[in-house]
Amino acid sequence: MTDIPNTFNLDGEPIRFEPGETILQAALKAGHFIPHLCFSPEFKPHGSCKLCIVVVNNRTGSSCAMKALPGLEVQSDTPDLNHRRRTLLQMLFVEGNHFCPGCEKSGNCKLQALAYDLEMFNDHFTHFFQPREVDASHPDFFLDRNRCINCELCVRASRDVDGKDVFGLAGRGRNSHLVVNSPSGKLGDSTFAKGDKAAEVCPVGALLPKGQGFKKPIGARLYDNAPISQSFGVKEEV
Ligand code: SF4
Ligand code: FES
Repeated sequence: MTDIPNTFNLDGEPIRFEPGETILQAALKAGHFIPHLCFSPEFKPHGSCKLCIVVVNNRTGSSCAMKALPGLEVQSDTPDLNHRRRTLLQMLFVEGNHFCPGCEKSGNCKLQALAYDLEMFNDHFTHFFQPREVDASHPDFFLDRNRCINCELCVRASRDVDGKDVFGLAGRGRNSHLVVNSPSGKLGDSTFAKGDKAAEVCPVGALLPKGQGFKKPIGARLYDNAPISQSFGVKEEV
């Protein structure tokens, strides 16, 4: 327990925060990694992936959605929470078709990097193997829904930054999927452009530029040399 105003404890370390910040925002700014997938400091929290779960004063919640308050006792890096995170990752891997050896995002993928960092050694659950549409209609980008984790970062970027509202989620439960706002439902018929903010936010290999795959040699990719928990501040989050 700390008595310094606007400070909470994260795994025993004091973390300063600005009023209004969430626990995850304050932790990342202070250089303390809490795993997350659907959060980006540039957008409003979404709260869908649940990777950012922490225990706060003995209650479990999403750190991207919980406001930092003075004196909170927050636990994040515990065997139990990391086990739950591994389970969430395994569920994402079997729900989609994430075959990393054939994916050009490999080495630069947040889902894969978190799975490595949290020592996810197998998928554990039965694969759904759902056939999902790949949309290659756009001249510069393709959309592979087999790899989409429904994080809605592209939805928020297109709506809140680009002012275009190109993307949205449709369907329910295991059938929820990314849709494109265009007369045909195809990316090529939408107003999406390669300079859009939405073009740079996908944390996985779902919304990717054409003609760029496998350009970075193995060894030079984003997460080749340092795990995501150590490289997040430098390379990605800021
Ligand atoms: S395409 Fe990428 S950014 Fe958009 S919802 Fe799917 S995983 Fe998230
Ligand atoms: S980062 Fe908090 S729920 Fe996804």
